Amino acid sequence: MILVLDFGGQYNQLIARRVREEHVYCEVHTALSMEKIRALRPEGIILTGGPQSVYKADSLLPPAEIFNLGVPVLGICYGAQAMAHVLGGNVAPAQISEYGKTEVEVIGASELFKGVEKKSVAWMSHTDRIVDVPEGFIVTAQSRDCPIAAAENPARKLYAVQFHPEVVHTVEGRKIFANFVDLCGCARDWQMSSFVADTVKNLKAKIGGGKVLCALSGGVDSSVAAALLSKAVGKNLTCVFVDHGLLRKNEAAEVEAVFSRFDLNFIKIDAGERFLGKLSGVVEPERKRKIIGEEFIRVFEEVARQIGAVDYLVQGTIYPDVIESGLGKSAVIKSHHNVGGLPDFVDFKEIVEPLRLLFKDEVRQAGRELGLPEHIVNRQPFPGPGLGIRIIGEVTAEKVKLVQDADAIYREEVARAGVDKDLAQYFAALTNMRSVGVMGDGRTYDYAIALRAVLTSDFMTAEAAQIPWDVLSRTANRIVNEVKGVNRVLYDCTSKPPATIEFE
Ligand code: XMP
Repeated sequence: MILVLDFGGQYNQLIARRVREEHVYCEVHTALSMEKIRALRPEGIILTGGPQSVYKADSLLPPAEIFNLGVPVLGICYGAQAMAHVLGGNVAPAQISEYGKTEVEVIGASELFKGVEKKSVAWMSHTDRIVDVPEGFIVTAQSRDCPIAAAENPARKLYAVQFHPEVVHTVEGRKIFANFVDLCGCARDWQMSSFVADTVKNLKAKIGGGKVLCALSGGVDSSVAAALLSKAVGKNLTCVFVDHGLLRKNEAAEVEAVFSRFDLNFIKIDAGERFLGKLSGVVEPERKRKIIGEEFIRVFEEVARQIGAVDYLVQGTIYPDVIESGLGKSAVIKSHHNVGGLPDFVDFKEIVEPLRLLFKDEVRQAGRELGLPEHIVNRQPFPGPGLGIRIIGEVTAEKVKLVQDADAIYREEVARAGVDKDLAQYFAALTNMRSVGVMGDGRTYDYAIALRAVLTSDFMTAEAAQIPWDVLSRTANRIVNEVKGVNRVLYDCTSKPPATIEFE
């Protein structure tokens, strides 16, 4: 096990993730006492980055005894400076701060940099730097503006790096983690199956015979969270799946089919007509969103009232959500995107978030371990208000059907061509535009469908994907032939910004 001591840096869970990628179990802790550190019996310790300055009086520093435990210690950025400071080196403000991609050169022999290119790009983000290394340390890397970009004491297996090996921009980062894991002598036998087994065991111990409620959206995160809880508590878990009638074609049936195989109580609420009634005559996007969100809560509230008090409410929060909502208390009370506001009225004692420390691709892996099918674990993001925000203008049952059918054809053709793996999100939307067409010998006056496909990693900005023309043309052809009421298909080539990914 490798212990990560957290000093508040931005990339700290990424460090844990890199260790997991080396198949080593890892725990992240803040401000642990020496007694607790010893009790964890780590095979190695990593000190993370952080926003403080080691030479300021109130800065958080690691206990000096960790360097005498006889296990390798890797200090990263602030962690490197803390190591130097605690062991008698000198840290001071850098004359030139480095930020971003920086060329780093390995100098001298280093165990940590074994097999690492002599010169490579690394990610830097610091305003202080190590000026003098502690006794017994040698300098092992430099950059143009940072003469001590890395240092180590090979005899004591202590390693300090000013740059961030955990960030993907550090080209040799993975090799550095692999070397550190080797230096720690870890067995590399941790798998996602171990995460699943440990989490199930811990959930069992924590929840016991308590009652658990889960709002299941059918998305990856809530599905994996539900599957974990099902393994842990079986029928003490109740999953409520609200079908607001604005899901994609066959989606509700698919979700039901998957979860009916799990050991849990599955409650599906068919609320399509109720939502359509509320949306009748409403054209303004924000009002539509608000109505869908509020109605969702109302439906869930009614079900929750019937179920009565529960001990735990499950949320599928994953690590990127934790970062977005700010670390600390705010993260704990974060409501799931798709079920915003649930904690306000459900009668429960505590929230459980079993995926809190995982990244999206790790959640997908855990889902596979739990036996969820690919169409669930690989599902692309789908907004809580569903097709309600992919139908411009008033939402009606007919329009929902048009967009569902067109979207299903588009997804089928994209998948058949094998381009789906490259796309972050792709879907059909119904424009509120009708135009003239000709079909057979007759004039038509029908709707236009817009196709969208975007490339993005963070969904904050996105670019339109260049879908091969033959895929688009085949899709367009099929849509106008198979979906009655559509006579034109348009492709959206706008980036975000200025457009957004969704149409409303
Ligand atoms: P936009 O349209 O803002 O979308 O560029 C960015 C990402 O967020 C998703 N999205 C939502 N997800 N509830 C959600 O759960 C919502 O109300 C919502 N609105 C947008 C969208 O699908 C895209 O992935």
